[in-house]
Amino acid sequence: MKISKIRAIYISPTGNVKTVVRTIAEKTAKLLDVPVKEDDFTLPDSRSGIRKVPADELVIFGVPVYAGRVPNKFLPFIQQLYKSDGAPAVPVVCFGNRNFDNALIELRNELENNGFRTVAGAGAVTEHVFSDALAPGRPDAKDIRLLEDFASDIVGKIKNMEPSQLSAPIAVRGDDPVGPYYKPLGIDGKPAVFLKAKPKTKETLCIKCGICIKSCPMGSISEQNPSNISGICIKCHACVKKCPQKAKYFDDPAFISHVKMLEANYTKASKTELFL
Ligand SMILES: Cc1cc2nc3c(=O)[nH]c(=O)nc-3n(C[C@H](O)[C@H](O)[C@H](O)COP(=O)(O)O)c2cc1C
Ligand code: SF4
Ligand code: SF4
Repeated sequence: MKISKIRAIYISPTGNVKTVVRTIAEKTAKLLDVPVKEDDFTLPDSRSGIRKVPADELVIFGVPVYAGRVPNKFLPFIQQLYKSDGAPAVPVVCFGNRNFDNALIELRNELENNGFRTVAGAGAVTEHVFSDALAPGRPDAKDIRLLEDFASDIVGKIKNMEPSQLSAPIAVRGDDPVGPYYKPLGIDGKPAVFLKAKPKTKETLCIKCGICIKSCPMGSISEQNPSNISGICIKCHACVKKCPQKAKYFDDPAFISHVKMLEANYTKASKTELFL
């Protein structure tokens, strides 16, 4: 089939998903000699209207894994923003070395429901935003090479296919119907409940630059006072990672306990899983 463009669509609060999706998109574009169009819907201002993707565009669609699923606060946007009448699509989920559980199959199903035809899929290991002891520095050079090889395989698969041959959906790991969200545990093995946790700010370090305000996917940091998290916090860590002063931090005991549990059990390097 003829592909006119690669559409790189993603949510990426701290940048890992963006790197992975871009790597696959740029390599497929190079091989097919077509342009890439990026569509980043991480921030509130970028999430309006309906985007109909033409059937001759190849979509690389990436989200981070939150609690073993597609982030629930973004799910409505995935369902409402993107529609197609048969564009080939590659669902990509990025996880922080624990597991992607049911996130990939959930994203695959959502894309299929929206009229895309999934032709491949990936669960890619990336550094965990909660701790740099979990998959530190990933995707690294080896991961990038693997993703580029994956892009070549995608091109090889679809190049000689007719649109009528897009027999979806791609088989991926996960429960169908999609299983429940992963329940975080603390270091004591008991459930760690930190839904209401929000980042705090070291007032002595904050220079009121506003970077955190502009980086919050939920638009939850007060314009008047960046120490005030006035709305919902999804623990994405964009404000923590992007603050030039390292002024933002989490000190919620249940959250800290969960991070300790992850560091005690999930430091062994996990593998990226590819489905073709
Ligand atoms: C709220 C939350 C929940 C997460 N849950 C999981 C998980 O269940 N399994 C896992 O391996 N990583 C999990 N992660 C780690 C992220 O999936 C990972 O760090 C990802 O690379 C973040 O993408 P980004 O850099 O594009 O924001 C979670 C991160 C957050 C913020
Ligand atoms: S990014 Fe950091 S320094 Fe800038 S306003 Fe936010 S907390 Fe303050
Ligand atoms: S306040 Fe919460 S949702 Fe907003 S950027 Fe910070 S961690 Fe993410």
